[in-house]
Amino acid sequence: MKKNLTIDSREVRAEYARHVVPSYKRSATAPVLVRGKGARVWDAEGTEYLDFGSGIAVNCLGHAHPRLAKVMKQQGEELVHVSNLFFHPKQAELAKELVKRTGPGKMFFCNSGAEANEAMVKAARKLGSGEGRYEVITALNSFHGRTLGMIAASGQERLREGFGPVVPGFGYVPFNDLAAVEKAMGPKTAAVMVEGIQGEGGVIPATAEYLLGLRKMTKERGVCLLMDSVQCGHYRTGRFQSYEMILERAGEKGGFLPDAVSMAKSLGGGFPIGAVWFGERLADVLGPGSHATTYGGTALACAVALEILAIIEEEGLGSHIEEMGEHLKKGLGKLGGRGWVGEVRGFGGMVGVTVQGRSHAEVAEALAKQGLLVVPAGSDVLRFLPPYSVTKKEVEEAIKKVEATL
Ligand SMILES: Cc1ncc(COP(=O)(O)O)c(C=O)c1O
Repeated sequence: MKKNLTIDSREVRAEYARHVVPSYKRSATAPVLVRGKGARVWDAEGTEYLDFGSGIAVNCLGHAHPRLAKVMKQQGEELVHVSNLFFHPKQAELAKELVKRTGPGKMFFCNSGAEANEAMVKAARKLGSGEGRYEVITALNSFHGRTLGMIAASGQERLREGFGPVVPGFGYVPFNDLAAVEKAMGPKTAAVMVEGIQGEGGVIPATAEYLLGLRKMTKERGVCLLMDSVQCGHYRTGRFQSYEMILERAGEKGGFLPDAVSMAKSLGGGFPIGAVWFGERLADVLGPGSHATTYGGTALACAVALEILAIIEEEGLGSHIEEMGEHLKKGLGKLGGRGWVGEVRGFGGMVGVTVQGRSHAEVAEALAKQGLLVVPAGSDVLRFLPPYSVTKKEVEEAIKKVEATL
């Protein structure tokens, strides 16, 4: 693609330095991206990149999908936003579609992953309030968002540094360790909240035994089980929810239903929307006036989310990304032990590679120079998060670019 003569990258970066809060770990020489199509993006100089970062697991249908552009225009011309003091058909339709895919229950709509998790925790606390239950147990290395509540919920001390006093009522235990959860639970425990696959923590899947054990243990003690599916959900692994994929691979069929599931990222494919599915136990806990957000489930966001679900279904993108993920893992696995490539793990469009001998940030920059965008995670992992529509050819191209950096 041609250089964009009207955009001066150096000037854009300088404006960021002057006028944008420096809260992101953005390399001073990171590309200035101006256009995208499918799994590819271009910078102002016309350099092409294969985008296996997808805006951090967001652009599930890649960039500039014509049907999403069309629905945004159509809905934009019809009705963008009305308050939640009124009804509109798109929110009703989206709620029905998400409930159909998750289990009996109800939806709450918001705008981001952190907000969705806040709503889950608020509902669990409200349910437990009569019995003095408010504590939420989460996992070490988990990531649940950047609000004051969610930095307290996340099992990473560095997120809280300088932002104290920390919201009380959260405790952390090692991930995939059932005995540790059992030990941490007490009469004040309202909920256990975990990711199906720890994303920011380094693409670490929960085991089937852990998920089933958590469900059993929480049920027996009247504690809610909250799944943070913001990153690993919405077909990223090939199944609507990552726990479905994990249990299916372990030969466990059905029988696992949490009390709540948070959603965001791929739900809107780049258009901001978050949501929580509440199972029957929590479905009516957030009563009138108890929780709200102005933009939650706005008509435009719901129209986009509905179109995404329709496209994924019509084009069979769940099984497609599952297959592409296997292909990617196989290709990267063959490079295992060579250069920086260590262990390869994950499912579908959520694959992690441990980096050995070099820093993951350094390798991410080297890959960007080869024209491949990926996302660092944890202390030593690179995440490959391609759009669900990625082609086999693009997966092979990505593997070649990895090989070129070894
Ligand atoms: C598992 C998980 N939960 C919550 C969040 C927060 O989502 P948001 O950035 O939309 O608030 C993220 C974001 O990376 C995430 O990966």
